[in-house]
Amino acid sequence: MPARGCSMGDEASSPEQRVQQLREQIEDHNYRYYVLDDPSIPDAEYDRLLRELETLEDRHPELITPESPTQRVGAAPAQGFETVEHDIPMLSLANAFSREEVAEFDRRIREQLDLEVIGYSAEPKLDGVAISLIYERGNLVLAATRGDGQTGENVTTNVRTIRSVPLKLRGHNIPERLEVRGEIFMTRSGFEQLNTRLADAGEKTFVNPRNAASGSLRQLDASVTATRPLRFYCYGAATTDRLPESHGEVLEKLREYGIPVSAEASRVDGLEGLLDYYESIGSKRGDLDYDIDGVVYKVDDLDQQRELGQVSRAPRWALAHKFPAQEEVTRLLGIEVQVGRTGALTPVARLEPVFVGGVTVTNATLHNADEVRRKDVRPGDEVVVRRAGDVIPEIVRSIPERRSGDPAPWVMPESCPECGSAVEQVEGEAAARCSGGLVCPAQRKRALEHFASRKAMDIDGLGSRLIEQLVDQDLVRSPADLYHLDRDTLAGLDRMAERSADNLLAALEASKEVSLGRLLFALGIREVGEVTARNLARQFGSIDRLAEASVEALEAVRDVGPVMARHIRAFFDEAHNREVVERLLSAGVRYEVEQAAESGEQPLAGKTYVLTGSLSGRTRSEAKAALEALGARVTGSVSKNTTALIAGGEPGSKLMRAEELGVPVLDEAGLESLLEK
Ligand code: IVH
Repeated sequence: MPARGCSMGDEASSPEQRVQQLREQIEDHNYRYYVLDDPSIPDAEYDRLLRELETLEDRHPELITPESPTQRVGAAPAQGFETVEHDIPMLSLANAFSREEVAEFDRRIREQLDLEVIGYSAEPKLDGVAISLIYERGNLVLAATRGDGQTGENVTTNVRTIRSVPLKLRGHNIPERLEVRGEIFMTRSGFEQLNTRLADAGEKTFVNPRNAASGSLRQLDASVTATRPLRFYCYGAATTDRLPESHGEVLEKLREYGIPVSAEASRVDGLEGLLDYYESIGSKRGDLDYDIDGVVYKVDDLDQQRELGQVSRAPRWALAHKFPAQEEVTRLLGIEVQVGRTGALTPVARLEPVFVGGVTVTNATLHNADEVRRKDVRPGDEVVVRRAGDVIPEIVRSIPERRSGDPAPWVMPESCPECGSAVEQVEGEAAARCSGGLVCPAQRKRALEHFASRKAMDIDGLGSRLIEQLVDQDLVRSPADLYHLDRDTLAGLDRMAERSADNLLAALEASKEVSLGRLLFALGIREVGEVTARNLARQFGSIDRLAEASVEALEAVRDVGPVMARHIRAFFDEAHNREVVERLLSAGVRYEVEQAAESGEQPLAGKTYVLTGSLSGRTRSEAKAALEALGARVTGSVSKNTTALIAGGEPGSKLMRAEELGVPVLDEAGLESLLEK
């Protein structure tokens, strides 16, 4: 990383000069971070610059100016917001939900301008709060919400706390007065962290990033807004000075002034260009760290925009092409309970089918009884269902106002719906569990599915439909029984041709040669994941030795804590489990022990990392796996034993902790260079 900023500034001769120099450096850093998306100094360095400036200004209060980066939180809490009349009304956008409507928009414009192909500027439609910022002689003097389009609210004090909003514009030829319009929003990662923080403090959480952005912006106390991870992207401007000739050039100019513009904004030609853009942003949507609800098309040429004019309160030259809604309202028909592999009971919502996020949703998870209580969802309620990207649909909340009568709250059944065994609620655990163990057919099915899964024994062709039949017909009770199935039995099953029976037998045979790590993972010992199973295999080298290990010996293994050690011990103390293992081995399952890779291939052995914030190149779990593959340990919290914290965007409290403890902090580039080792 270039060391810009690290060694600068020590030659400043007077406090005044140093203050000036620090402000420039801090503003430059903001610009690189929020506008160029290319920070050149680590956050810790930035914080040091800011602290130095604060100290100097404390000592020399006469040097403080309203535009100083230290002055983002200034005023005392307000009583309310003043109203502001917009010089130029803040318009809204016409919406389109289909390609046909977009084609119609393009056709009308071509007709009115009498042109064959129109040049457009295309941008993501950010799902936040619209804002107008007024800069006079380059200084931010007013920030106002859209309100009804004519009058909004003065939220300047709050907006000043948002670091991506420059208090002072940079560069040359800045217009005397410039109105910048854009969207205040919250990144998804920022939203998650904020909600975790609020929940930990026992406060009310927000339902989505947009509500969180709007709620945070409308705080009467700006020092609260200052703690909220708000961001700003600009999508337009107005000034009495001359503007460039196209919208795209306006955005470019605004970038030069230090105002952040979405990197996704792009110039495209004609209807085809618009639709391609829609597709391309749609496919990136899940990877963006902020919510968008569509894209916006704008005729690029400003003269053409003027010629087209507006109808009622929307310009004719712009169109919002919306994505299918990610939240919809539907009815909760009932709550069923699903039994997992370890007996955990999960309430699942059965819904009146509803089209949301581009698919028809009929089920949604409710996680556990606490969640059902917290969201106060009752069978028969109207509920808000959300499906974003590829994530599992979930119920956001119920709409109790629309409830008829007073339906009873839902409670977890006292006995397992699958086997009738008692349901246990373990102290300190959110999940309720069926106590039936492998007597419970549902647990048996899930255990077999896990056993056969790709990362476990990898038995090709043994899917959940087949397992369902094998268990229901009592042909298989434990994984070991799988290896005693014969061709006739298999071929007699529903939808099982002789050829598939042969294939399955071959797959079962092939699965017998397995690594000890996989076999241990396949057994489904509670909490023992793939990586831990491999570590256990390396440490103990045989099932017998593992089965005899004491809790203390188990805890000595990497990643094994006291709870997991007890689960492992309990698993092997159970005679039934030992019998299953013996029967697997006598059926011909042979395991080999993978040796830990040579130390040369484990360059990160003995190192411990913590990941935080959002990464752009890979997901956090991919990063974790990649680090572990090189021998590193990846843990959830920063301690003095942490080798380094790897901080992506919006890092949150772990970064503070690392700085307190003097733990080195790496950014995403640092992570990538670690992984190249
Ligand atoms: S242009 C006259 N561009 O969408 C054009 N709006 O439905 C006015 N929005 O209130 C807006 N992203 O807050 C424009 N790239 C974008 C936008 C955008 C989000 C919001 C904006 C406005 C609403 C209109």
